[in-house]
Amino acid sequence: MPLDIVVGTQWGDEGKGRFVDLLAAEADYVARYNGGDNAGHTVTVGEQTFKLHLTPSGVIQPGTIGVIGNGVVVNPSVLIQEIDSLLKAGIEITPQRLLISYAAHLITPAHLALDRAQEAALGKGKIGTTLRGIGPAYTSKVSRKGLRMVDMLDRDKFMLAVRSHVQVVNEQLTNLLDAEPLDARQIEDELSRSASHLAPFIADVSTVLTDALGHGRRVLAEGAQGTLLDLDHGTYPFVTSSNPTAAGAFTGLGLGVGYEERVIGVTKAFQSRVGSGPFPTELEGEMALRLRGTGDQPWDEYGTTTGRPRRVGWLDTVLLRYSTRINGLTELALTKLDILSGLDPIQICSAYRRADQTYTELPFGPSDLSGYEPIYEQLPGWQADIRHARSWEHLPQAARAYILRIEKLCGVPIRLVSVGPEREQVVPIA
Ligand code: GDP
Ligand code: IMO
Ligand code: MG
Repeated sequence: MPLDIVVGTQWGDEGKGRFVDLLAAEADYVARYNGGDNAGHTVTVGEQTFKLHLTPSGVIQPGTIGVIGNGVVVNPSVLIQEIDSLLKAGIEITPQRLLISYAAHLITPAHLALDRAQEAALGKGKIGTTLRGIGPAYTSKVSRKGLRMVDMLDRDKFMLAVRSHVQVVNEQLTNLLDAEPLDARQIEDELSRSASHLAPFIADVSTVLTDALGHGRRVLAEGAQGTLLDLDHGTYPFVTSSNPTAAGAFTGLGLGVGYEERVIGVTKAFQSRVGSGPFPTELEGEMALRLRGTGDQPWDEYGTTTGRPRRVGWLDTVLLRYSTRINGLTELALTKLDILSGLDPIQICSAYRRADQTYTELPFGPSDLSGYEPIYEQLPGWQADIRHARSWEHLPQAARAYILRIEKLCGVPIRLVSVGPEREQVVPIA
């Protein structure tokens, strides 16, 4: 009963979307289990580039059914816009092709206002959120005051719940955050229109997926964000408010444990991060610009959702080993190896040093990274353009050595390597 899980191993934007798209060719269902439209997953197919925020990346493959699990927070207007833009790109998302869990929580305009006001109030200490209302929506959920997809099905009750939600948020905005109150009527109208639009998509995702697995169908679970942004296991408090780690697939889709076959951790060949928080191997200056790119290539390191330049640095295998353990990875998928072509030497962080002591594991996880200095190994680089490589034999010796070293340091095999954003720019490793 095969469930494969794709999870980010770093701070997001590892290239999960492109591998979900690839693996979805073999899947019956592709299911997002966490996060909201803070995610931006890029899939490149020929001339077309899709940037998906809520719809699972696997829906680009025609044979799949997309699923949005209960672990996701849904901004209804964003989802409706995304469905519209997919239609314009020739992909029709009907209620037969997309199921949304009745238990998924909603992001409302009031959550967006709270995210903005809370970040502004933090000033220099801000998290650097995507301002998509993620934290406030999950806060409503855990405080048991959230609005859920299922609530949209009883319109009168839903409108009353929305009114009281906006009232409560308005008190917070005006009394605590020095912000303007919102117009409840306008929000009610917007959510009422969204409810009509999305009602046919609401389903019992847990039952559908459990039945599918029971009948030997293949389910691909798609994580958003990454392990180091996990609320419990990331660089707290500079994290998101959900569980992107592999176990989140079970709670976030309503599945019992034990179905999984492959847990695929996607990692970039270097490190990137958007937003605030610790980053031991961060680079500045020329080398940072070289890894980030100047923004004239679609794959350059600028946020898919917010357009912010991403912070970049050398690959950190202390953190990657940590991700391997926390997710129970069975394998790694390495992206953007092509970006390292021409760099010599390539550095890889294999341990940290603090006060003359060497650490290969962090005593208290990644939220306490202050004071640790990366220890680098230097590996020879390669000059060849590897974007046309399609097999292990096509890769230069030094690129192979880099891959083998990462495997050795993390203790799991790398099964897929990408050398460009296109669907076929992949080197499978047997
Ligand atoms: P995700 O959030 O994990 O799905 O990743 P994003 O889509 O936010 O960011 C990854 C970026 O890298 C996108 O622009 C991809 O098109 C691009 N990308 C993915 N794999 C490769 C690769 O192997 N080489 C290059 N040059 N770009 C890649
Ligand atoms: P994908 O799925 C990269 C970051 C934000 C911020 C922190 C909290 O494309 O990999 P939030 O809006 O979630 O409250 O912000 O998390 N963040 C991401 N960074 N990729 C993402 O998603 C992210 N989603 C959130 O930049 O640092
Ligand atoms: Mg992204």
